[in-house]
Amino acid sequence: MGALILILCLNAAVDKTVVVDRLRLRRLNRPGRVLTLPGGKGINVARVLARLGERPLVLGFTAGYTGVFIESALREEGLAARWLRLAAGQSRTCLAILHGRGGPDPGRGAPTELNEAGAVIGARDLRRLTRECGALAKRSRLVILSGSLPPGCPPGTYARLIQEVRRHGRRVFLDTSTPALKPALTARPDLVKLNRDEAASLGLPVGRPDALARALENAAQRGARDAIVTLGPAGAVAFLGGRRLMAEPPKVRSVSPVGCGDTFLAAFARETLRGIDPRRALAFATAVGTASALVPGAGVVRMADVGPILRKVRVKEL
Ligand SMILES: Nc1ncnc2c1ncn2[C@@H]1O[C@H](COP(=O)(O)OP(=O)(O)OP(=O)(O)O)[C@@H](O)[C@H]1O
Ligand SMILES: [Mg+2]
Repeated sequence: MGALILILCLNAAVDKTVVVDRLRLRRLNRPGRVLTLPGGKGINVARVLARLGERPLVLGFTAGYTGVFIESALREEGLAARWLRLAAGQSRTCLAILHGRGGPDPGRGAPTELNEAGAVIGARDLRRLTRECGALAKRSRLVILSGSLPPGCPPGTYARLIQEVRRHGRRVFLDTSTPALKPALTARPDLVKLNRDEAASLGLPVGRPDALARALENAAQRGARDAIVTLGPAGAVAFLGGRRLMAEPPKVRSVSPVGCGDTFLAAFARETLRGIDPRRALAFATAVGTASALVPGAGVVRMADVGPILRKVRVKEL
């Protein structure tokens, strides 16, 4: 068993993935396949870490009956969590519609997503969370802040949590999007994981790997010390431990790109804690992320797919 890794998942969700052959708007649709799992990016990260033999602990909020589903389904999966229950509202449901061959974008595989905002968090709830985060961070080797902020959280919420983790001398990885991203970076997390859109929202040159890697290096003075930008099927560009790197995965038939970034981050975190060098950690994370594109469900990976993909991942210095 590996180290305890604390994962904050403030906006946990019931993640529903349905597969339809052809989505008809304003008509009754009958999905061929349905998969319902507790989700939210933090839970996806925790699920993969558990598959990799680590001991993740999820900390977040739940509310209402959907919250009860999240708590009990996660328990059944064997994932440890500390839930702070909200007095009102419902944990959100996120619906991903995977289009079959007759879908509106044949061959592209991009899902249609409907993500609810989630239950509203109050100032007292946030204070409880911050206290709990500090107490649990003390027992952890790494803290991962993952996903959007639920309604009611001020934009500086992640910065405040990063400071709390630092007070206990622990490392913190960040994976979030606008509007939570920019204010969080001011607290200088140890690592930030961005995707193409998130990097573009920060004004980073996502079209040119070389320029992107240099921009990450320059940004390291102000924001996160280490940074990775994942680029879907194109792989990842990173500035890690003072090196500019790029990882390229083999071409695969992607059926579900949702959650590949979460899978990537979990794999990278695991390698980092084991002291694996950045180049190999990046290759492994790219392979695990790519493997998760092969199966439906966010954060779901067939470990047997990882080895053969890893042998085809190419990492180079930029
Ligand atoms: N179609 C694909 N083919 C091969 N690898 C992929 C594909 N999609 C994703 N990956 C792998 O997963 C990694 C992360 O993907 P991506 O950049 O889409 O993350 P993301 O947008 O943060 O995803 P999410 O936030 O939904 O978890 C990529 O770096 C790559 O290794
Ligand atoms: Mg992502």
